[in-house]
Amino acid sequence: MTTRPEFPIGVFDSGVGGLTVARALMQRLPNERIFYFGDTARVPYGIKSEETIAHFALQIAQFLLEKQVKLLIVACNTMAAVAARAIADLAPVPVLDVIEAGAQAAAAATRNKSVGVIGTLATVTSGAYDRAIHRHDPAIRIVSQACPLLVPLVEEGWLDHPVTRLTAQEYLAPVLAQSVDTLVLGCTHYPLLKPLLQQVAGAGVRLVDSAETVAARTEALLRERGLTRTDGTARHEFFVTDVPQRFQQIGERFLGRALAPVHVVKW
Ligand code: DGL
Repeated sequence: MTTRPEFPIGVFDSGVGGLTVARALMQRLPNERIFYFGDTARVPYGIKSEETIAHFALQIAQFLLEKQVKLLIVACNTMAAVAARAIADLAPVPVLDVIEAGAQAAAAATRNKSVGVIGTLATVTSGAYDRAIHRHDPAIRIVSQACPLLVPLVEEGWLDHPVTRLTAQEYLAPVLAQSVDTLVLGCTHYPLLKPLLQQVAGAGVRLVDSAETVAARTEALLRERGLTRTDGTARHEFFVTDVPQRFQQIGERFLGRALAPVHVVKW
């Protein structure tokens, strides 16, 4: 399959959360076109079985490949955790994912070799972050914690709310008790809670935001492969499987800019 610099980048997530990755890409690579897919009919993925998550992930990857994307970015930690290999096997274009990018950044950031990882139940159970971090440095001690309540709280817009603060304190207490100096935000939604999580974790803990690290890796990969788009207006497109108005409303808050066109895909 031939790929060209003017082709779009395909970014996908189980819903609206992956727009944190799209936002980081738009800031770093303003000339690139993004085709974003959010599976709003079937979100959340984080509480589903590995088999179901992998099936959905391949279906979305196939959809974006048919739209001729030059690169696929798995913005969803849960899909990356259970289906990264299967997606890479399917795709004739390069594939990047948030887990590899976050793991690399965490391994580079930790000074005391103690890293905390927070994410959905499926991400934490898969052990994908542990494996990815240990590929960089097997001596790092990892303390993982599933935080399933944080996704709905972010969806509700409770980014600085006492309920969210209390929930974060409860989840983070056992992680912080292990003296981690780095905390990986291993879920698309958590970058929105960065100020709150930083306060709860304390100034001595470095937060790793995979949205930013994956954008940096995308820039490097496009440059290496001669696939950087240098001109033209970046017209993005958004695809969802249900309730486009809600996606648009929450998405505009995430992106801090107008979000259109939003197409509804029916399978
Ligand atoms: N996108 C998911 C992730 O990053 C969070 C939402 C979900 O559970 O589907 O893990």
